[in-house]
Amino acid sequence: MARWCHAALLALGFGALGERDDGALLQIGEKHKSQARSGAVIFYNLFIRSEKDIPRVREIVHEQLNLVMDPLDQEIRINSIGALKNLSGLKLSKDLEKSTKLLAHYDEGFEDLTLHDLWSFCKGTDPQQFVVYLHSKGSFHSWKGRNGRQRYYVTSGALSQECMHMPKQCNVCSSRMTPVPHPHTPGNMWAARCGYIAKLIDPKDFRKLMNSTALASHGPPWCIGRERFSNEHWVNSHPDCAPCDLDTNQSYVVGPAPSSTFDKKLEKAPRFAMSQYTMRSKKCDSETGRSLAERLSEYRYLYSRDPDEDWWGWRHFLQNSSNSAKLT
Ligand SMILES: *[C@@H]1O[C@H](CO)[C@@H](O)[C@H](O)[C@H]1NC(C)=O
Ligand SMILES: *[C@@H]1O[C@H](CO)[C@@H](O)[C@H](O)[C@H]1NC(C)=O
Ligand SMILES: *[C@@H]1O[C@H](CO)[C@@H](O)[C@H](O)[C@H]1NC(C)=O
Ligand SMILES: *[C@@H]1O[C@H](CO)[C@@H](O)[C@H](O)[C@H]1NC(C)=O
Repeated sequence: MARWCHAALLALGFGALGERDDGALLQIGEKHKSQARSGAVIFYNLFIRSEKDIPRVREIVHEQLNLVMDPLDQEIRINSIGALKNLSGLKLSKDLEKSTKLLAHYDEGFEDLTLHDLWSFCKGTDPQQFVVYLHSKGSFHSWKGRNGRQRYYVTSGALSQECMHMPKQCNVCSSRMTPVPHPHTPGNMWAARCGYIAKLIDPKDFRKLMNSTALASHGPPWCIGRERFSNEHWVNSHPDCAPCDLDTNQSYVVGPAPSSTFDKKLEKAPRFAMSQYTMRSKKCDSETGRSLAERLSEYRYLYSRDPDEDWWGWRHFLQNSSNSAKLT
């Protein structure tokens, strides 16, 4: 809705540059006629190990997709990995069924398959288009308990009204974004603008690249954002990342979420002082990922540039530390 208003204002010449011509007006008219969906395109990585897991994981899928507001205005694109060959086994509601399609089935694979599809989609579309990334977290293990809480916590943020209407100052939005030991979104579900996503490295190449940064040898994978943790790091890996997050309670910054629901207020992330994050990421050396030199060195390696003046990290990272020295 908001995007339509914005497009219409632009077309009428109220926009930033009033640059739309008659062609744009015509396109908007035609889009209205064909009732194009104006909402987000949701990419969902579904993993089901074996046949016997299908009923349990179906519950997970229902719980997550029931959080999609206005399903008829969104598109849901699923990659199914493992036991489920087509979507009929999901028994979706009529509305969800109409909005959902299977991208592909894979016998095996990881999140990078779906992140790659999301990234490819973004490279060929309107930079203002919103995408959401979801996955069936906890489909290996019990669907209630720790994984269930965490899943609800991250899914409800990625699909929230707040994230769906994030202001221009943000390009990635999630329940929580945590800057150390590497900038990441715990649980890895988020909403983003395509214009930002299109700048990122292909997720299929990212894992390997993260293994060869100057930081790679400074700690185990979860402290650096390599191996499977590279997927959580990917969306935050570019110097132009402008993260926003929602959870107002500073007690949660890493690991399993203490509760499934939380008070939401969108703010630029990181929203707390650095000490709030570092005191809770104890499994890594207390200095890992805290220095400016480390972050800059990774940006230069991955994207061959430094962040702009408005980068969130300038005010958060240490100007020097023993880890900076190791890089030089
Ligand atoms: C969907 O998959 C099931 C088995 O997983 C199969 O029995 C059914 O024929 C498939 N349906 C379609 C439309 O391919
Ligand atoms: C990363 O490096 C480790 C250790 O050198 C190696 O075992 C692993 O296979 C590498 N992973 C990738 C994705 O290249
Ligand atoms: C913040 O979260 C902690 C842990 O779940 C909880 O004990 C505390 O009451 C919460 N604080 C507020 C203000 O909601
Ligand atoms: C870092 O900078 C502070 C002052 O800004 C200085 O006191 C400290 O010695 C420096 N540490 C290193 C390791 O260079």
